[in-house]
Amino acid sequence: QKRALLAVNREAARYYHAALRGAEGRAAYDYFRSRGLSDATLVHFGLGYAPPGWEGLVTHLRGHGFTEEQLVAAGVAAPGRRGVYDRFRDRAMFPILDVQGNVIGFGGRRMGEGDGAKYINTADTPVFKKSHNVYALNFAKKFGGDRLLLCEGYMDVIALHQAGFQNAVAPLGTAFTEQQAYLLSRYTKELVLTFDADGAGAKATDRALALLAKTGLAVKVLRLPQAVAKDPDEFLQKNGSDGPARFRALAEKAVSATEYRLFRASEGLPLDSDAGRVAYLERAAEVIAALASPVEADVYAGRVAGQCGVSKAAVLAAVAARGKQRQQQALRQEARRAAAPPRQDAVEPERLRQGRAANAEEGLLAVVARNPDFLATVRTKVKPEHFVTAFHRKVYEELLRRADEGLSMDLTLAGDRFTGEEMGRLVRLISLGEKRANTLEECGLCFRVMQEEALRQSLRQSSEDSDEAFIHKMQELAKNKNKGVAE
Ligand code: UTP
Ligand code: MN
Repeated sequence: QKRALLAVNREAARYYHAALRGAEGRAAYDYFRSRGLSDATLVHFGLGYAPPGWEGLVTHLRGHGFTEEQLVAAGVAAPGRRGVYDRFRDRAMFPILDVQGNVIGFGGRRMGEGDGAKYINTADTPVFKKSHNVYALNFAKKFGGDRLLLCEGYMDVIALHQAGFQNAVAPLGTAFTEQQAYLLSRYTKELVLTFDADGAGAKATDRALALLAKTGLAVKVLRLPQAVAKDPDEFLQKNGSDGPARFRALAEKAVSATEYRLFRASEGLPLDSDAGRVAYLERAAEVIAALASPVEADVYAGRVAGQCGVSKAAVLAAVAARGKQRQQQALRQEARRAAAPPRQDAVEPERLRQGRAANAEEGLLAVVARNPDFLATVRTKVKPEHFVTAFHRKVYEELLRRADEGLSMDLTLAGDRFTGEEMGRLVRLISLGEKRANTLEECGLCFRVMQEEALRQSLRQSSEDSDEAFIHKMQELAKNKNKGVAE
């Protein structure tokens, strides 16, 4: 059966590619060209076009002797009331190949801003497991040498290959998985993560780093300058003929996992203020405390000390305190779990302990939801990580996603992303905005409260350190209160 499904996929890929070359594929051809792909690249990746009809491919494949069951099993057709119909219609097609070079599935991108998902991917089939395969590994395994570049999307991979980085690969429309990590570890020693320069990309990076720690693959992180481009494809496009050289320079500067985590710990904190540095030291101590090697811990403690203008001994003391605190936290958590306190707020459990921050977040979100054009300014300062309740973070990420994808900013249309209970909370949140000023200043005030609360929280957590350290930090906080916490 598997052999038959591979044959279906191969013939489907041929059909889509021929359609791209024909008259009906003109718009798709122009689309790919407008995204900077050369004719040679279209051929190399076997890109194609799925025509808009409901049974062009089905008819074609029937003519090749395949059965309807086989078409459905391969995922290129779906069963309808009157027989099977083409699964991909009017989309630019990306065939997905396994390491041996078999076509095992497809990604199909909508070309305009029409409705429907941006990409549709073949669902898992007997020959296609999304979580076990990696896009373009059939090519990259030959060029990877000692390192592979892992990016987010098909277009990133293709643009990178065209620019000479034939070691680029990507997951297949889902988050990077452990199985994919093991697959890659067979072909390379080092992986360079180059995910999107946005909240989702940062989250994907954190996740991938955690999972790669288990595989023994060496990892580095390439950070794209967010102001320039959100992904490698865009970066290459924007830099024209300088793109490849500039990307190579970025790759040379890729940082270690720990350097990346320290960078993330400093994000959004004003390191030019005492309050910001105290908060950064707390987070950095946590990053360093998690390192297995004392030598490494020593090196990074030195670096953080330099950044904050304190002694390395002070940083190491904070790291040691962190370790102790972790143990205490674990014990306390254990005790709490044993006591099993009832959850008072299913949507936002964090509200229980961080009410002031949660209220400020609610205000910020309400104002932005009612004035979506504020988002461009707000997002330069406010990152998803700044929200203490997971629900608020999710709402904010949804706003960012909608802005990025050019969708309507009306959150009540995001029903597929939120549970009924969350939707109810969301509607209430938006209506609460009526009481707020519709100004950017209002957003700034809310964000200031969020930052104050973040600092207070980090102090509360460190209160077990030692009395002396705690008193010192309280003094710092008081000092900054007079100055006003930087925005
Ligand atoms: P992105 O939304 O970052 O798109 O999705 P992209 O790769 O930059 O695509 P272009 O440049 O707009 O064409 C990254 C990857 O996530 C998957 C796809 O695999 C895509 O390549 N994806 C994205 C989906 O599977 N479905 C979607 O609706 C969106
Ligand atoms: Mn892109």
